[in-house]
Amino acid sequence: MIYPILVYGHPILRKKSEVIDKNYPNLSQLIEDLWETMYKTDGIGLAAPQIGLSIRLFVVDGALLVKDHPELKGFKKVFINAKIIEEDGERVTQDEGCLSLPTIREDVTRHKRIRVLYMDENFVQHDEVFNDQRARIIQHEYDHLEGKFYIDYLSPIRKRLIRGKLTSITQGKVKADYKIKIP
Ligand code: NI
Repeated sequence: MIYPILVYGHPILRKKSEVIDKNYPNLSQLIEDLWETMYKTDGIGLAAPQIGLSIRLFVVDGALLVKDHPELKGFKKVFINAKIIEEDGERVTQDEGCLSLPTIREDVTRHKRIRVLYMDENFVQHDEVFNDQRARIIQHEYDHLEGKFYIDYLSPIRKRLIRGKLTSITQGKVKADYKIKIP
């Protein structure tokens, strides 16, 4: 099932998400739906809060970016109850977009390397280090679990410059190539 994407202004996107366990209802179907929705929207990551579920689950697939970032080859994963336990001091700036922020794209500075504790779709625990683009994608999706958006990191000037666009999004005066759910 393809879900509509909640956009900026929806209160669920500002909530801290809950940890889940294996007994979470219809979890495997939900993961399938996240994949299906993500591929339909040409996303490279999708977090459960973006479809209206405040739980610590996200999926990523870097396939669409492999041409520019070969290190993303094979980077397709499900993250359940992810926890970033280490962040490298070195930071990198690059532009980002988000399905919940249609029409906006901004430079974001993020950690180059992170260490993450997470469970996969079979609830097998992993403790893994991710670098560069992989680290960036995970940090972006992880922020959704924490009720954050990448635009939270922008300078006051950049924030002011996108204010009009944000207002349009919250009022539903925005177009996307995929189905969205306005606040
Ligand atoms: Ni996003």
